[in-house]
Amino acid sequence: MTVLQTALDPAGPDYQAHREAMLAKLADLESEHAKALAGGGEKYVERHRKRGKLLARERIELLLDPDTPFLELSPLAAWGSDYPVGASLVTGIGVVEGVECLITANDPTVRGGASNPWSLKKALRANDIALANRLPCISLVESGGADLPSQKEIFIPGGAVFRDLTRLSAAGIPTVAVVFGNSTAGGAYIPGMSDHVIMVKERAKVFLGGPPLVKMATGEESDDESLGGAEMHARVSGLADYFAVDEPDALRQARRVVARLNHRKAYPDPGPAEPPKHDPEELLGIVPGDLKIPFDPREVIARIVDGSDFDEFKPLYGTSLTTGWAALHGYPVGILANAQGVLFSEESQKAAQFIQLANQRDIPLLFLHNTTGYMVGKEYEQGGIIKHGAMMINAVSNSRVPHMSVLMGASYGAGHYGMCGRAYDPRFLFAWPSAKSAVMGPQQLAGVLSIVARQSAAAKGQPYDDEADAGLRAMVEQQIESESLPKFLSGRLYDDGVIDPRDTRTVLGLCLSAVHTASYEGARGGFGVFRM
Ligand code: COA
Repeated sequence: MTVLQTALDPAGPDYQAHREAMLAKLADLESEHAKALAGGGEKYVERHRKRGKLLARERIELLLDPDTPFLELSPLAAWGSDYPVGASLVTGIGVVEGVECLITANDPTVRGGASNPWSLKKALRANDIALANRLPCISLVESGGADLPSQKEIFIPGGAVFRDLTRLSAAGIPTVAVVFGNSTAGGAYIPGMSDHVIMVKERAKVFLGGPPLVKMATGEESDDESLGGAEMHARVSGLADYFAVDEPDALRQARRVVARLNHRKAYPDPGPAEPPKHDPEELLGIVPGDLKIPFDPREVIARIVDGSDFDEFKPLYGTSLTTGWAALHGYPVGILANAQGVLFSEESQKAAQFIQLANQRDIPLLFLHNTTGYMVGKEYEQGGIIKHGAMMINAVSNSRVPHMSVLMGASYGAGHYGMCGRAYDPRFLFAWPSAKSAVMGPQQLAGVLSIVARQSAAAKGQPYDDEADAGLRAMVEQQIESESLPKFLSGRLYDDGVIDPRDTRTVLGLCLSAVHTASYEGARGGFGVFRM
């Protein structure tokens, strides 16, 4: 065994300070998560209940196997936008009749469950996850369709939601729609494109045009039930496969549908695994409040992998990037973790080699981010930092084993790319509350802008206003700082959620289990030209 030792001193002042900084960030995160849970607020929740309806998360709870976890994704979607936190949609992974499924549920308490640009992004992300991991997709539908004032942002790209449903079906990934209420106009294609459809009596409204629109279009008098009620669709149109008498009945029937899907995982469950030897609670005290201070990622690895057992690869070479092999909840993983922040040529080449090895062996990769990016400066440029960074980015881009990323601290510049940032399609990407991500650090960015402005003034022969410069720098710094924060980035769907560091092992274990629903094979060749 190669069990990691720890140098962390939980009684020491550093640990205490780091822990306090992390706890403060977690408290802030909790209050933002509470906004998503509150949905449209008391008034609309109350009205919804008075109508005898269940809330989105209650529907999910009844759908899932009792006492099984639900990995909610991107609960902070739409944070910092004009739309309510959560984007009127709940998405996540949960177990139904022993089958891991991707579940989406409209939140009808938020503007009638209408989809805004962030709801759309969230729905499309959920579909991507279902497709990549072959997870059956269950849609719990009750939505006013497109958020009409923002229709220009969603009408044209929104068609992808229906396209995805039929592509999932074509790929043999089951799709199930349970309709609890409004599912009209474009929304009618959610049940329309799903493999299995359940509708709730006197609640489901599934039509292309409601009574007023029909009256306008053809002059025909009609009503909701005859145009799109559950009974009509179950008896007459045939769009509903199952007629549910109420919401719990619909969820019970959805469970029966899943029980009969015969959906099989590509890999068996590895069974119980040994927990880490070091206490995951201590993950709170590792990342310094000031990200300029480096921390040893082995302290993190020691608290997330099975038995804290880690076989380090090339430990003496390119020491600013720690690489090595471990298991997480019984699944083998290769880990790349930034140690000193900066990536040099050696680290980049080591990463490219390590990624190739993982592909040869069919081992998923976990990227633990704390990087300020690739090293700059004459010595490093002359040493080929661009081509070595390019090797790493090539390896990450063309690797075919599943990737997962966790932003623990900094994730700046091309370092974010080389470490499998969002654009590199990791199967899952989560951030800790301590994370920050941007093209570069706020001070560096403000400083660069200031130098450029000074040079521009000099070139025009104009004087440079130093006082205005200081004010501008401070303003830019503050703006970049706020745009680097995890809740801002999560609001824009640049991750799948901001998680408590203590939950990292559990979250990654759930993700790895979902990942192993689909078979995968590493790239044996097929990388781009490695510039040597
Ligand atoms: N876009 C933007 N806002 C919408 C909306 C939509 N598609 N649907 C509902 N809302 C808003 C309402 O204006 C209302 O806002 P307010 O409380 O600030 O006045 C809030 O959401 C709740 O709507 P309300 O009608 O009171 O809720 P309800 O539960 O009684 O009915 C619907 C919900 C969805 C059945 C009903 O609002 C509706 O028919 N909406 C329009 C549906 C539509 O035609 N969509 C276009 C499809 S492409």
